[in-house]
Amino acid sequence: MKLLLVVLSVVSLFGHCHVAPAFGDAFQLGTEQSFSYLSEVRTGSARNASHTVGYIVRAKIHVATMWGDDEHKLLRLKIESPTLLTTPGDIRHRTTLSGVGSTSFYIYWNLGQVKKFFTSKNDDATLTNFKKGVASLFQYQLLDGKYVEEDPSGICDVQYTSHSSTRYHKAKNNCQFSGDRFERTEYPLRSLIRTSRSVDFTVSTEGSLEKVVAQDYLKYLVNAYDNFGAFVESVTRLEIEGSSKNVDTVSGKTVDDAMKSFDVYEQTLSSEKYEPKCDGGNCDTLVKLIKTLKKSLTNDHIGKQDSSSALLKLVQLGRATSAEDFLRILKAKTMHDQKAQLLDLLGAVQTTESHEAAKSVLVYESDVDMFLAERYLQALAVGSRPKRAVIEDLLAMAENKPKDQKFYDTLVQTVASMGHRFAKLPGNSFDTDVVENVKDYLLRQLNSCAKDKCKQQFIRGLHNLKSPKTLNALVKLALEGSAKVSVSAMKALRSFSVFLWNDDFRATFEDIFFQVSKKFDSSARALALDILLDIKPDFEELTHLVQLLKSNDKAYEVKQYLLQKLRMMADRCPDFAEMLRRIMQRDAKLNNYHVIGAKGLSTALTRTYSTVPSFNATLESLQEMSGGVLKRGVVDLALEVGEERFSMFTLGLFAGGLSSFVSSGDSEDNEDDSDSIAGMELAVQGSVLRPLVFFDGKGELMGHVWSGTASEPTPAYQATTLLQDNEEIFPLQNGGIVKLSTMGAISIDLNGQVTMSLWGRNAHSKVEQNTGIAVTGRLSLDTTFVSLRVDFEVEQEPQLHLTSDLNFSSDPILCMQLMQPNSILTQKVVKTITVPGVKYRKRQTTKMSHKVSGCTHALNQKNNDMCNLIAKS
Ligand SMILES: *[C@@H]1O[C@H](CO)[C@@H](O)[C@H](O)[C@H]1NC(C)=O
Ligand SMILES: *[C@@H]1O[C@H](CO)[C@@H](O)[C@H](O)[C@H]1NC(C)=O
Ligand SMILES: *[C@@H]1O[C@H](CO)[C@@H](O)[C@H](O)[C@H]1NC(C)=O
Repeated sequence: MKLLLVVLSVVSLFGHCHVAPAFGDAFQLGTEQSFSYLSEVRTGSARNASHTVGYIVRAKIHVATMWGDDEHKLLRLKIESPTLLTTPGDIRHRTTLSGVGSTSFYIYWNLGQVKKFFTSKNDDATLTNFKKGVASLFQYQLLDGKYVEEDPSGICDVQYTSHSSTRYHKAKNNCQFSGDRFERTEYPLRSLIRTSRSVDFTVSTEGSLEKVVAQDYLKYLVNAYDNFGAFVESVTRLEIEGSSKNVDTVSGKTVDDAMKSFDVYEQTLSSEKYEPKCDGGNCDTLVKLIKTLKKSLTNDHIGKQDSSSALLKLVQLGRATSAEDFLRILKAKTMHDQKAQLLDLLGAVQTTESHEAAKSVLVYESDVDMFLAERYLQALAVGSRPKRAVIEDLLAMAENKPKDQKFYDTLVQTVASMGHRFAKLPGNSFDTDVVENVKDYLLRQLNSCAKDKCKQQFIRGLHNLKSPKTLNALVKLALEGSAKVSVSAMKALRSFSVFLWNDDFRATFEDIFFQVSKKFDSSARALALDILLDIKPDFEELTHLVQLLKSNDKAYEVKQYLLQKLRMMADRCPDFAEMLRRIMQRDAKLNNYHVIGAKGLSTALTRTYSTVPSFNATLESLQEMSGGVLKRGVVDLALEVGEERFSMFTLGLFAGGLSSFVSSGDSEDNEDDSDSIAGMELAVQGSVLRPLVFFDGKGELMGHVWSGTASEPTPAYQATTLLQDNEEIFPLQNGGIVKLSTMGAISIDLNGQVTMSLWGRNAHSKVEQNTGIAVTGRLSLDTTFVSLRVDFEVEQEPQLHLTSDLNFSSDPILCMQLMQPNSILTQKVVKTITVPGVKYRKRQTTKMSHKVSGCTHALNQKNNDMCNLIAKS
């Protein structure tokens, strides 16, 4: 008998274990439990967590079980006397949250899951979300394992781990929440979020809930700067205070039956979106804001931080502005001096409404209008949010071949750049129909071109589109085209991702570099070399490349270019330097003075442009010379984050047929010297603009030199464009929705001055790049009862001056100087808490400024020697 009892109790023990979730006593029918509730939210700067602003909500929660059995229960929840306290503690602002406690809400609870949530129709979104936050605290499991649960954060993967039979931990991950999210595709321009969400809870030995602590933590950082951003921490505590009996119950076969007598409706547990409304006269409109920023929008502010920060302030509102309002602003006589910057804004806004308004400037009659039309198109080309309708509209415009050649070229480049950016958006690719249409258009036009200039225009279009489907066409042009076409095609090819270069492509580039099948232009060879080095050659491949140094190839500038690139890469990468050293040492012919000290003026180098506390950026300068004068020059300014580079601005110079002015006389390049040409090719954020030609033909050059038209500094490029453009949301467990955004802009004023005297046989040039950078970010949490906000911003005005002196009396001497003046980096963090009901607002501002010392970059020994020569004379 005894044995039987033991066996029975063992069996029942097992049986009990299998019925397991031992929710036992939880929420017994007809009882009510009361809990203390506390929700604390703090926000602050990511860099210094010691100063925060925040709030605390305290309340009492009553949970009554009105219907159900052991497993299925209908719970009625009521919030009693909720109060709000702002932190740091400011007792005067303890306020009662009216409305929050007034109505009951209900949950259908089934073995630890909240299956349904019902609340009043009259609640606003923030109140409903608050209730959802409370309801979801009653969601818990007592068996370790992985589950999927929904709560105000969305639908999350959760994992339960028990610490003892009464203490448990729940980790929440991968919460899916449908909401507006946008980020730039380029990693250096993105923001990073680090999050952790968890819940710890304690149950009684009978399985009823005693204590819950839910924690959410989020750190939001701008990738381009170290530790720059904001954080938010939310902790919600629920603790049992007592229980009572004698709660009225309701009857019904199912939960829905039981719910019939209540005037509530069912909702999911995910938070509902909430947009704070501005009250009446206080609403910002674009027109109002433009008036206050009018001064920052004039041309004198281009290249300054004012200009960038004004754009950032306007873009957000601009995205919600109608075409009519834009048109009114554009047409206003008082906005005459701001017009160019307004077109930058329209290009950055990039909605169909802004495009509708901007189209009024695309019909142009004068050169001034043409300039504005191009300004809009160039802004659109680098915009981060290309729209299909706008691309289609511009493509149709291009199909009609506008008469003005410059405008037509700019239009083609804009359509191509937008096509590229559109293909990179989530859900799109180079197969997307509109992107295919752009590609087909460019190839069709290219095929119907007769002249090189026409071909170059559409090759540039392919360069901007970067569709892998055009690689074969470009390779064919590089191999078979005229010198100019071949160089353009190689420039386009170099802009593609290195991951595309398989063995076939590699063989083609080697053919061009070593001139295996035929002779190639020296620039095409240099570009082929750039690609071969970009691929990161291994020992064998590099050994092969350096053979050129001891070959009898007469193009000494190509050899010098190779040597310079090898040195540049060795400076940057110790592994490469070691490999190169081993290759050189193995071969006595390579390792001799004549090879290392080869003739030629070409240079390749990289220098640090900016570093912590500012963003990390480098300048890469590649100058390919021919017959003593520049043939192709590139100065690229690139933002660097981790392994990723993002080209912010590229200044390219091209020249041809100038060496006859210089007395070196030993031009061995297979260059056609018949016509002289010089110009500039700019790329903004990777989008190549149409070339700016200084002169084309000897007659024009003479005109320039004698009339001195080039001796005033002339702006070559002026615009303010968006950099960072990211936004997302992070819903907290307590029902609050945190909004995150980062926007950045760069304002560039590039101007140049060239003086040249054929009589004195010298030339002097000065190029100045003035840049104004502003990045602003925001973390905000808005509810009807309280708002928290952290605004963080950084501003800087870095400048770069490049001067060059060329003396071609005898052997040409070129001295270049690259200088960066001092600048100041300012950072500001503003934390604000607002309680709308009592018109309470408190703000904390932290400001820091760093002096960034200027410098003159050491270029290379040869340049130093030549500068000394010029200084002496
Ligand atoms: C954080 O800010 C406080 C007050 O502004 C300051 O005393 C403290 O040194 C700062 N901490 C750090 C790590 O910068
Ligand atoms: C910038 O470079 C420094 C030194 O390499 C590095 O410590 C820092 O993390 C970099 N910052 C960013 C934002 O990439
Ligand atoms: C150029 O060089 C020549 C000879 O090397 C010298 O006489 C002359 O003064 C120089 N001119 C300038 C402007 O430096």
